[in-house]
Amino acid sequence: MIGELEPREYRQSQHTALAAFSKRSGLMSVAAVALTLLMLSGCGHSEQLSSARIDTPVNVIPAPGSVERGEGRFMVTDGTQLAFGDGAEGKRIAEYVSDLVRRTYGVGLGSSGNTGNGVIQFELAAGTSVTGPEGYSLVATPERIVVSAHDARGLFYGAVTLWQLMSQGEGGLQVPAVTIKDSPRFDWRGLMLDSARYYQPPEFIRKLIDLMALHKLNVLHWHLTDDQAWRIEIKKYPRLTEVGAWRVAAGPAAAADIDPATGKPRLYGGYYSQDEVREIVAYAASRNITIVPEIDMPGHASAAIAAYPRLAASSKPSPQVPADWGIYSSLFNVEESTLTFLEDVLDEVVSLFPGAYIHIGGDEAVKDEWKASPRVQARMRELGVKDEHELQSYIVQRMEKFLSSKGRRLIGWDEILEGGLAPNATVMSWRGIDGAVAAASAGHDAVLSPHPTLYFDHRPYDVPRPPGRGRVITIEEVYAFDPAPAALSEEQRKHILGVQANIWTEHIRTPDRVEFMAFPRAAAIAEVAWSPVKDWDGFSARLPALLDRYKALGVRFAQPAPSRPLDPFRRTSHELSLCSDKIPLSLEDDAPVDSQGGERAVFLVDIMQPCWLFKAADLSKVTSLVASVGQVPFNFQIGDAVTAIELQAPATAVGELEVRLDDCNGERVAVLPLAPAVGNFAVTKLPVAKIAPREGRHDLCFTFTRKSVDPIWVIDSVQLQTSSAGEAE
Ligand code: ACM
Repeated sequence: MIGELEPREYRQSQHTALAAFSKRSGLMSVAAVALTLLMLSGCGHSEQLSSARIDTPVNVIPAPGSVERGEGRFMVTDGTQLAFGDGAEGKRIAEYVSDLVRRTYGVGLGSSGNTGNGVIQFELAAGTSVTGPEGYSLVATPERIVVSAHDARGLFYGAVTLWQLMSQGEGGLQVPAVTIKDSPRFDWRGLMLDSARYYQPPEFIRKLIDLMALHKLNVLHWHLTDDQAWRIEIKKYPRLTEVGAWRVAAGPAAAADIDPATGKPRLYGGYYSQDEVREIVAYAASRNITIVPEIDMPGHASAAIAAYPRLAASSKPSPQVPADWGIYSSLFNVEESTLTFLEDVLDEVVSLFPGAYIHIGGDEAVKDEWKASPRVQARMRELGVKDEHELQSYIVQRMEKFLSSKGRRLIGWDEILEGGLAPNATVMSWRGIDGAVAAASAGHDAVLSPHPTLYFDHRPYDVPRPPGRGRVITIEEVYAFDPAPAALSEEQRKHILGVQANIWTEHIRTPDRVEFMAFPRAAAIAEVAWSPVKDWDGFSARLPALLDRYKALGVRFAQPAPSRPLDPFRRTSHELSLCSDKIPLSLEDDAPVDSQGGERAVFLVDIMQPCWLFKAADLSKVTSLVASVGQVPFNFQIGDAVTAIELQAPATAVGELEVRLDDCNGERVAVLPLAPAVGNFAVTKLPVAKIAPREGRHDLCFTFTRKSVDPIWVIDSVQLQTSSAGEAE
């Protein structure tokens, strides 16, 4: 129908559609425009529209602020020249885009001083109406392309957009004729990477930086210290990495994995030398990315305390770096020498990271050790602080003063609000957005990074691999995150620096898996942080082209698995229903250990209530059941909550798997002793258990009896067998 339009009318329609977009009405995204235009081009008129064919959609993520489509396309061929003027920045950026184009499209660009036709020209500080920092304009016509910006960051982003605009069409690589004016909505467009729980090598950090840059993300918040590791070399305190960067993984499988070199359990770990950090920081700067290092205090400090026990509030600090997840009670003490230690560390950190912000953590510092310590209580009186929250605030204020004296700004998790916020502190709001509301109300800046929506350790899809936190946070949920919530007034919103997604790695053991958890959800947070408009349909229309670019770049990314019909008689733990939703995890087995090789199983389990339901099982012909089970260490520091875990008394020494009918208090239809599985840290198929057939469909409930919370017995899979299959077993 629209294909009936004459070219002039077509252009008018195009103009109307773009006007709707450029008013930032939020009604039409770039992709929606592109899609509309594709429909406008219609079929049957290819001759007529050949000079104005819209055959290359504007597949840019994050969506630019404004896009006007022109007529035709610029062809990019081997030898197309890039002109970048005299400046080093232009040259660097031109080289960057040439490299990308060569790697992803196999086309080699040349460079030229000539700025005439056929050339892609980069201009810094010239002829652009884009005024904001990081902004750029890109004007592509069939004759030439001009990317211009006032600062090198903007020019870089213009280059990224240029690369995204390229696609292989009829006749080769091409860029649609287009005029883009673009600048970011927020200054802080972040990802946090936890390199403490698991270590990723510098090559991976650089790869992540590269990928962030292609999404116009500009802050890498690098979580470098925690209970389970200290990962940054500090020259003045070498034991922080000599001792603090290494641990024995939790559980008996790791304890039994003896390193022949030492005769002791093999250590897991690694750290970043200062030279490596400097290289990474410089690499990030070349990609427009500022690294915000995090040195967590006064909690999440067990690794530092294992290295230097004098830092501990406890009189009996653990000499080993611990391997449990969760929240340890260990805190730094508040001796003057410890505060000096923290300042010394920050001093070296400041010398390595030139960015404005230094993150001091501040989260989840349970105050039990401070309450129990007569020495800490005496220090509180000396310092004139009235309670433990004020004591934490005292430390934060002291660090804030120190960082200010070095020309830097302190940022911390929202707990730094408790006990009084330091004068120039910025708050990273993770317990919802309340921390940001409180900070902004008090005139402080804030970054929005709320759990669970922006916690990318939750699984992107309901798939067993890779492991992660048990909830599913889809890319659509991430995209729906509102960075300007109604809870904030117009004035308060000015204090929102931006948004950040966090990749905690307790359950993300390898860099490959980090990538899978990050992408493509990072594209959604990038668009939330950058673009003035929000349009899920438009974003999802642009997503396939992004995934193609990922493939060209060798990115591991999450895609929904094609849904398969369930086997009526078999379920894995992920296909069973959990009985509860307290702390659900998609949890990796601790065995086999790496030195033995072999893939580890992944179980869906609520660690507070390990209990599964096989819903509506047809039992009419079922005569037996086969269960495969695993055991994983209960390596979770959950404080007193552990007493809420109910234990069912076992009948035998090691316990049983019990199967009950209809609900978890129903008739017990099978009991499978765990004895055959006790000596196996990996998955064990238990001997077949007979069950009497029942009429119709019933829920089956699976629970384990046990004397203690450790280990957690888990279902790997259950198979219901009919009599003939049962015989075969
Ligand atoms: C956090 O998730 N503890 C900031």
